[in-house]
Amino acid sequence: MMTTRIRHSLTVRITHWIIALSGILLLFSGFGQLPLYKRYYVIKIPGLAWSSNYEITLVIHYLAAAIFTAAVCFHLVYHYRRREFGILPKRGDIGDSIKGFKAMFGLGDELHHEKFQAKQRIIYTIIGVTSLLLIVTGLIKSYKNLGAIVLDPMLLQWMAFIHTITGGIFMMLFLAHVAALLLKNHRPMIPSMITGKIDREYAEKHHPGW
Ligand code: HEM
Ligand code: HEM
Repeated sequence: MMTTRIRHSLTVRITHWIIALSGILLLFSGFGQLPLYKRYYVIKIPGLAWSSNYEITLVIHYLAAAIFTAAVCFHLVYHYRRREFGILPKRGDIGDSIKGFKAMFGLGDELHHEKFQAKQRIIYTIIGVTSLLLIVTGLIKSYKNLGAIVLDPMLLQWMAFIHTITGGIFMMLFLAHVAALLLKNHRPMIPSMITGKIDREYAEKHHPGW
């Protein structure tokens, strides 16, 4: 019989899926505002005719942004208060990530990984910084929309520019995150974000220091 061990608590799983679902809605509604969907015929897909309606994508973007921002704040406060910092990068992680990638292709041995591998700590940091930049620039853009508020047009242009660029980066990170999890040697991690459990043998092999 396969034995398992707990990898992610219910709180962590719920937070992850709230961030993931609101993040996907933000991606879809944000790119809808550029606007891309009329040009690329997304509106022709049955059920998606609304996708180029600016008012609709704007409301979805604001609602999803509120949920995303709240969940990210909760995540930061929750793990800070519990003193859980295992996913933050450590000295030497960039070099270790390169070794980790080589090991995936059979070049060199797997490192003595902890709960999170060096490459996971690096990717977490990149997703985290990108999300925070999206939140800060998004909040400034929202603030300007509140009404008779005058902000320096140069500042606003920069905020819009950084928001759009980081939105594109977020899209690529999302695709890379899902593609990486679908790789055969990462696939056993998927159930850990659903049921919380991971195969004990897999964990001992890939995260021996955990
Ligand atoms: C916008 C959407 C998403 C965001 C922002 C996001 C973000 C993250 C972050 C920051 C981590 C921790 C770092 C890591 O282990 O790589 C993580 C872990 C994880 N994510 Fe996502 N995620 C998203 C969507 C998804 C989707 C669609 C899946 C399903 C395939 C998924 C499955 C997982 C799993 C299984 C882990 C745990 C990895 C482990 O146990 O080490 N995520 N996610
Ligand atoms: C995954 C995260 C996000 C992505 C991919 C994303 C993407 C985008 C894109 C592509 C646009 C249209 C281009 C532009 O006007 O610059 C946009 C607009 C906007 N976003 Fe986001 N965004 C995200 C998160 C947020 C958050 C967290 C907020 C607020 C806290 C926010 C607030 C806004 C606002 C106010 C606009 C302009 C709406 C208008 O036209 O008045 N976004 N976003």
